[in-house]
Amino acid sequence: MVHWTDSQIKAINKIWTKVNAKEIGGEALARLLSVYPWTQRYFSTFGNLGSCDAISHNAKVISHGEKVVTSIGEAIKHIDDIKGYFAQLSQYHYEKLHVDPANFSRFGSVLIIVLARHFGEEFTPETQAAFNKLFHVVADALGKGYH
Ligand code: HEM
Repeated sequence: MVHWTDSQIKAINKIWTKVNAKEIGGEALARLLSVYPWTQRYFSTFGNLGSCDAISHNAKVISHGEKVVTSIGEAIKHIDDIKGYFAQLSQYHYEKLHVDPANFSRFGSVLIIVLARHFGEEFTPETQAAFNKLFHVVADALGKGYH
């Protein structure tokens, strides 16, 4: 089981209570699709992904980013059993969507950048370390259904 210290949990919750899922999630998914363009293949039904500008204004991208970040918010509420919480979602990404699990870590890295951009000085090195751990645990949990 992953061990969390009180200060890690505090650092995560302090930021997360202020996270606007649509804004943060939309930007994070748009950046994923722009920085790692090969990830666009999973979103072929999302319409125009032809440029960074088109991606960041694409309503389906923003709405899906919101869904993903909301889901991470729910996982934070189950921080001691993220693996169990994401078991079904992991299988879904593996069996139905065929998403390469390396993309879960990429999404975490992008999300760190988006949080740092939005929260500036409040996103201290300690906070970054806590989120880095969280997104590692999330990526690991989502990768568990792959075997
Ligand atoms: C890392 C954290 C991630 C979380 C928490 C997450 C969560 C979710 C959730 C909650 C859904 C909706 C499931 C449903 O409708 O029942 C979903 C769908 C989906 N996810 Fe993920 N996801 C993550 C990463 C990724 C990545 C990195 C990719 C691809 C690069 C991806 C590709 C997809 C696709 C293609 C769908 C279906 C979209 C649609 O057609 O509506 N996900 N994900």
